[in-house]
Amino acid sequence: MNPADRLAGQSRLPNVKTTIFAVMSQMAARHGAINLSQGFPDFECPARLRQLAAEAMAAGHNQYAPMPGLPALRERIAEKVGDMYGAGVDMDTEITVTSGATEALFVAIQTVVRPGDEVIVFDPAYDSYQPAVELAGGRCVHLPLGAPDYAIDFDALADAVGPNTRLVIVNSPHNPSGSALSPADLERLEQVLARSDAFVLSDEVYEHIVFDGLAHQSLLRSESLRARSFVVSSFGKTYHTTGWKVGYCIAPPTMTSEFRKIHQYVTFSISTPMQHAIAQFMADPSFHLELPDFYQAKRDHFRGALDDTAWDLMPCRGTYFQLLGYRRIGNLPDVEMAEWLTREVGVACIPVSVFNADGNDESILRFCFAKGDRTLDAAAEKLRAVGKELHPPDRTCR
Ligand SMILES: Cc1ncc(COP(=O)(O)O)c(C=O)c1O
Repeated sequence: MNPADRLAGQSRLPNVKTTIFAVMSQMAARHGAINLSQGFPDFECPARLRQLAAEAMAAGHNQYAPMPGLPALRERIAEKVGDMYGAGVDMDTEITVTSGATEALFVAIQTVVRPGDEVIVFDPAYDSYQPAVELAGGRCVHLPLGAPDYAIDFDALADAVGPNTRLVIVNSPHNPSGSALSPADLERLEQVLARSDAFVLSDEVYEHIVFDGLAHQSLLRSESLRARSFVVSSFGKTYHTTGWKVGYCIAPPTMTSEFRKIHQYVTFSISTPMQHAIAQFMADPSFHLELPDFYQAKRDHFRGALDDTAWDLMPCRGTYFQLLGYRRIGNLPDVEMAEWLTREVGVACIPVSVFNADGNDESILRFCFAKGDRTLDAAAEKLRAVGKELHPPDRTCR
């Protein structure tokens, strides 16, 4: 057998298949369904941002950027987290610009996780954490976040943290549930970790998408958490530019210097004109300061169109995802329910069980509302028919 033929049997990630996001998007395209499955906007990023990117290219900013990121961009990031979270972050030793949050998450995990280490992950969890932990030789310990609030059970966390715990991964605002850490949660996290040597990886890509006047509880607000944390964010979510893949990681100097050793051999540096454009755009903070209202209007629009239906609207404190429960509509497993909705109703979504390592299925689906109002209206009209004119097949009848 040649090496290529042997490789499938020697996979570094034998349990990883094509992600559900690709599967549902393909299915949506095949059936002409409205795609509320994958998490990206269907509207344009700000015209001025595009203009700034074009100007940066025209001005000749087309060669490698410095490995840690453009100084002008790191300066803006330091200013922003100072203004928003009261954190004094050193742009030279604590901030690294990365290829989206995805690279930052991957590199942070490779930086600290060694073979045999345990990493605590809260389920439902974003899908990139576990493969990165496994590639580093670590093992995920999954703790459940329960519907409808999806709050961390800090007693369960205290029980799970032990001598082998190397890293705890938190994500707030939380994909897929839309839950968000409160100030009391930050305090509990501080207390639970005070007795441990564990690092924290805080995925804060939706930091600027929090609703109802809540303030985002960045781990940068807490001196003791900051001292052990990699805090990750993404300009893709903030500026409607998921395709630009520009994000960053903030961590204390010793952690950053180890992080950069890996970052420099994964990507070395990030698109120069995009960094110039974002740095200039950030000089005026109004866009990210107005983002909560922008998305809150979409959340309320989508929820309002569904609030007198058999769908159960779960709380949504942040992100651009709305969870809908369907216990009053049918009893199909959530993956089959999502497939039926795509095929027969014409709306694609993501079944929440795929975010659970044990496949726990609570009859809940995730819908992305980062879409134009007309798309949301069309989707809501179709969803309103479910449980009235349109009924999913009964699981017991199959
Ligand atoms: C929770 C979470 N983390 C990280 C990412 C990845 O961000 P990026 O596109 O900047 O790599 C996403 C994207 O959907 C996400 O939802």
